Amino acid sequence: MKALKAQIKNMLPQKLLYLYYLNSAKKASMYDLKRRVYDKVYNKSDIEKVKRDLALAYHIVEKGLTMPEPRPGFGKAVVMILIDTVERYEKFQLPENDLEFTQSVSVLKEYLHYHEEINFSLDQDLLGRLISIEERYAKVEGQKQIRTSKADYFKDKNAPFDQFCQSRYSVRNYTEEEVPMHVLHDCINLAQRSPSFCNRQPNRVHIVKSPEKKKAILEIQNGNRGFGHLAETLIVVSSVVSTTKDMHERFENHLNGGLFSMTLLNALHYNKIGACSLNWSVSDDKDMKLREIIDIPHNEVVLMIIACGYLPDEFSIASSPRKTAEEITKMH
Ligand SMILES: Cc1cc2nc3c(=O)[nH]c(=O)nc-3n(C[C@H](O)[C@H](O)[C@H](O)COP(=O)(O)O)c2cc1C
Repeated sequence: MKALKAQIKNMLPQKLLYLYYLNSAKKASMYDLKRRVYDKVYNKSDIEKVKRDLALAYHIVEKGLTMPEPRPGFGKAVVMILIDTVERYEKFQLPENDLEFTQSVSVLKEYLHYHEEINFSLDQDLLGRLISIEERYAKVEGQKQIRTSKADYFKDKNAPFDQFCQSRYSVRNYTEEEVPMHVLHDCINLAQRSPSFCNRQPNRVHIVKSPEKKKAILEIQNGNRGFGHLAETLIVVSSVVSTTKDMHERFENHLNGGLFSMTLLNALHYNKIGACSLNWSVSDDKDMKLREIIDIPHNEVVLMIIACGYLPDEFSIASSPRKTAEEITKMH
């Protein structure tokens, strides 16, 4: 049957085959789209989305607290949104030990204490709401941001896998010291050990060191404010779409790239290079702009960027606590 199908396919004119692929592409896209439409990703009123919004906001504040030079009074708008979202969560009367909730409350308290310590007067409206959160949730404790030294941060770089794995964090603070290309190649060679579909190895890496190009790229990326400018190297991870065969393989570039990027992050950590992933969830015009800054072949899709560099002697890292295995696992 398979052979017959292939024979028929070969007999069809190219134009008809093209229409067939177009139709299956449409079907597959609709299938994906429907899941998102049914899930109402933009709906603010269900529990999963409240938790999503908590994580989105608390993480921005968490990052702000660990910036190389936090700006006193930073992020008022997002802190207000976080408080609003905590109040949305309260309305659901959910457990107070959910990670998104505990970490949000904890980060708000940390923001308040940070400003008390540096003797900075927050705006009265914000201050009142923060004090109210502190009074209401005196017992709720999440994880504080971590102040560390370079020596301490890399102390488990040669430790057994479990310890090594626990020791990597996103680092958003770098020195100007040059990361040599041969070290980057070592890291990329390790990342190449990641599995890939039929060993098709779709991942590609673009290294950017030119200050002008880095600046131009970081200007169109939305998650690097306060630290991106310090990155000695930007690693743009992309993937060749021509390695996929049909629409059913439409996620393979991102899936393979995710596995590759994780190994690359670990390899950078192993080589004592601090790194932070930067999302490339951008509009098509931003993606096209990137391609004007650096020459990326048209058949490569950009997956993400990694900002990296050697580290200063002391720096802060966002704690970014994790849910437990039990919380995210379902037995069937
Ligand atoms: C695909 C992806 C995109 C990310 N984008 C950003 C970003 O734009 N800016 C940023 O500061 N961190 C970004 N991060 C880093 C995450 O915030 C970080 O991995 C997460 O909070 C977990 O913390 P950890 O890496 O320290 O374990 C991104 C991570 C991933 C995997």
